[in-house]
Amino acid sequence: MSDSALFQTYARFPITLVKGKGSRLWDDQGKEYLDFMSGLAVTNLGHVPDAVKEALIDQLDRLWHMSNLFSNPNQEKAARLLVDNSCADAVFFCNSGAEANEAAIKIARRYHQKVKGNDRYEIITLFQSFHGRTLATLTATGQDKVKEGFLPLPEGFRHVPLHDIAALEAAINDKTAAIMLELVQAEGGVIPVDRDYLREVRALCDRHGLLLIVDEVQTGMGRTGKLFAYQHYDVEPDVFTLAKGIGSGFPVGAMLAKEHLKPAFVAGAHATTFGGTPIAMAVVAATIETMLKEKAVERAAEASEYLIGQLQEKLAGLPNVDQVRGKGLLIGILCNGPAGEAIAELHNRGLLVVPAGPNVIRLLPNLLVTHEEIDTAVGLIASVLTEQAAAKSVSL
Ligand SMILES: Cc1ncc(COP(=O)(O)O)c(C=O)c1O
Repeated sequence: MSDSALFQTYARFPITLVKGKGSRLWDDQGKEYLDFMSGLAVTNLGHVPDAVKEALIDQLDRLWHMSNLFSNPNQEKAARLLVDNSCADAVFFCNSGAEANEAAIKIARRYHQKVKGNDRYEIITLFQSFHGRTLATLTATGQDKVKEGFLPLPEGFRHVPLHDIAALEAAINDKTAAIMLELVQAEGGVIPVDRDYLREVRALCDRHGLLLIVDEVQTGMGRTGKLFAYQHYDVEPDVFTLAKGIGSGFPVGAMLAKEHLKPAFVAGAHATTFGGTPIAMAVVAATIETMLKEKAVERAAEASEYLIGQLQEKLAGLPNVDQVRGKGLLIGILCNGPAGEAIAELHNRGLLVVPAGPNVIRLLPNLLVTHEEIDTAVGLIASVLTEQAAAKSVSL
């Protein structure tokens, strides 16, 4: 038994990180790591970005918290930046991805029940999706492992397989309110959604009067080489959600929606004490402004091309690698067996990566990653996987 006073809800890596800057992290022994996980798609501008740090320190001297019953200029500014750079018209700020998705589920139900005057409440989501760990969002999640021991689950969710439009159409009924999906199933193994499939999903939503909700908690804020992943497709969602990269490491979530959803979230409809505090909003505004100023999203798209190209070249022909897939800087190396040992060895050699399901090594470098850092990372990955393939062929 551990002598920790914490619930042991995380199978933690045996590394204690104490400091970070840019793409580098240091542990409590002074060992340096190249960070290709970014706190799981959070530190998209690298660790402790100067401009965001300055905005945070400046706000710390002014005001930390006030009730959402007062107007909050920082919140207005952060919302304006998001609205001006997306298809959304309004933003609700909260504190995490799960909360943002809860808000999305709630606004979908309330839109139908209060604005459209019908009794639609069901949300269709996809198998292998991940939408969070609150009761509603784990029910929305298309993976059984997050649901074990939490029965009874809330009503109102159905799941269908990705890329099966007939199954999706068959699941729609007179109670369906919305379809909710990620555009790269990240926790599910880094599986990008096809362009034609998303177009058909949008068409089904329009035909049946349903809302399209896109969970951009992991794909948003430049991660896929566009500010928001839906911008890769010529499709706009009615609602989308953000968290992770929006606060550079400060805990923030957001639910964004189009004009027609505004009457669904009126005074008293939804609230949270800590949503959009002056501090969090100073960080969000500085994060977005820095991303725009540094052309971080364009740089991520360019870095992605280089990283994917290098991976494809250096891992070509390895019998233990099946595929390199993903979008932007959300990349998965699909191994033909468990990836855990390779990941542990990469950590050992100073490269931090993370799994996505049992067989996928997930790479999530920050958006400003350099070619030199990519060369180092790909070199380490290629050596570890080549050595593993050789060891396996000897033991056969
Ligand atoms: C796509 C997606 N949605 C929702 C969540 C939940 O976000 P949070 O952990 O901030 O509640 C995650 C977290 O990994 C995610 O990847």
